[in-house]
Amino acid sequence: MAGEFAVELRDVVKNFITPEGSELAAVDHVTMQIRNGEFFSMLGSSGCGKTTSLRMIAGFEWPTEGEIYIEGKAVGHTPPFQRKVNTVFQNYALFQHMTVFENVAFGLEMEGAAKEEIKKRVAKALEMVQLTGMERRRPRQLSGGQQQRVAVARALVKIPDVLLLDEPLGALDLKLRKEMQLELKALQQQLGITFVYVTHDQEEALTMSDRIAVMSKGAVRQIGTPVEIYERPSNRFVADFIGEANFFDGRIKSLAKDEALVYVPALNADLTGLPVSDGLVNGEEVVVSIRPEKVRITAEETMNTNLFRGKVTNTVYIGTDTHVYLDVCNAKLKVYEQNRISRLDPGSFYTVGQEVLLILPPENTLFLKKD
Ligand SMILES: Nc1ncnc2c1ncn2[C@@H]1O[C@H](COP(=O)(O)OP(=O)(O)OP(=O)(O)O)[C@@H](O)[C@H]1O
Ligand SMILES: [Mg+2]
Repeated sequence: MAGEFAVELRDVVKNFITPEGSELAAVDHVTMQIRNGEFFSMLGSSGCGKTTSLRMIAGFEWPTEGEIYIEGKAVGHTPPFQRKVNTVFQNYALFQHMTVFENVAFGLEMEGAAKEEIKKRVAKALEMVQLTGMERRRPRQLSGGQQQRVAVARALVKIPDVLLLDEPLGALDLKLRKEMQLELKALQQQLGITFVYVTHDQEEALTMSDRIAVMSKGAVRQIGTPVEIYERPSNRFVADFIGEANFFDGRIKSLAKDEALVYVPALNADLTGLPVSDGLVNGEEVVVSIRPEKVRITAEETMNTNLFRGKVTNTVYIGTDTHVYLDVCNAKLKVYEQNRISRLDPGSFYTVGQEVLLILPPENTLFLKKD
């Protein structure tokens, strides 16, 4: 395969004129480089430009500005069927009157492939998605998950370099969706094909992806591995969109590469932490972000950096964890503690009004750009 990147978007813009007559930047200067063999996800809420980005890679839409490269070559206005990419659409779009075999064979027949060749390749594709033996069924004689697999087989039968998947599991119930997530991921690893996967489900993206592009309002807010995105979100939007976080306003008092001091009015104190966003400057107003499970409630003053006294206002038991809500100076803080011990003894919970000591570990106290 030519080049390091399977797909590249360089400064791509897509403007639509809406029926209401205004111009809308559905995709707004997006740049991303998707590596060969990578499971790459675009993650963002409804309307952020995921499907539009995917349709431009597939060739169903053309960029207003910028350029898309597949295997290192600018694709320009190359039509969809001449691109070595294939799409699995959200509503699988199976032909209801055709059998599984005919659905999967359809693309090859349109290309005029020989009968024997078609037979061989359909059998192989159905084997990949574990549907061997179901060739003669029609879509309505299959479960949702099986129909979804027919859609994947149909996209794989032409052996694309890149498979584009637009919320392929959206219609499935949670349990089946989780099974299919692991199946699709395993299939991708086994085939070594590049997957570009669109979802608005953060857990799905974290579970399946090698890297994720977090999108909002047509723009990419961060690209990184699941761990990078969760542990080191580079701005408030990403910290807020993925998982949960405590946020405080603050101002940078001193700044070095791996450590900064930020004054937080609501805590009436300085916090030591990690400057994460690019281009932060001394004196800048920032957002402090700390995940609830990273805060430690402690019995002793083991360290004096980022140590606070808080008062418990509520505790909520949710099985795996207990959520502890606290007042700390003028700020509200939530802390998630894992229930490693049995909680059968009511005395094992903090009581409302109880005073506790808290540590905000500097390596997980993140200073982010305001946005
Ligand atoms: N053909 C079109 N004409 C005008 N506006 C469009 C067109 N297609 C999409 N849009 C608008 O562009 C924006 C991005 O749409 P897109 O379908 O890419 O979002 P999405 O991230 O896939 O959302 P969802 O998660 O709901 O599928 C939306 O505001 C949508 O209304
Ligand atoms: Mg969409």
